[in-house]
Amino acid sequence: MDKKIKIRVCVGTHCYVMGNQNLKDIKDQLPGDLREKVQVEGAVCLGCEKLTTKPKHPYIEVDGTLIENASLSSVTEYLRKLENKA
Ligand code: FES
Repeated sequence: MDKKIKIRVCVGTHCYVMGNQNLKDIKDQLPGDLREKVQVEGAVCLGCEKLTTKPKHPYIEVDGTLIENASLSSVTEYLRKLENKA
């Protein structure tokens, strides 16, 4: 069985109000072929308070990489890049 790609959706206050309230169920929103390759969990904060640059909420982490200004399309695009590397 292939290892699943781990997606962590931040539901901390800033990320939640800046868009992640619509992405908590991101697995259901992904294209079908990607849906089966991911494992999704929530996180309270992915570390935005430690950033030295101006935070760009909302954040979603994909296999340890933090995606800023996260959206369904940016996460899908990143997942496609991971697929092409594999
Ligand atoms: S509140 Fe989302 S990364 Fe900190």
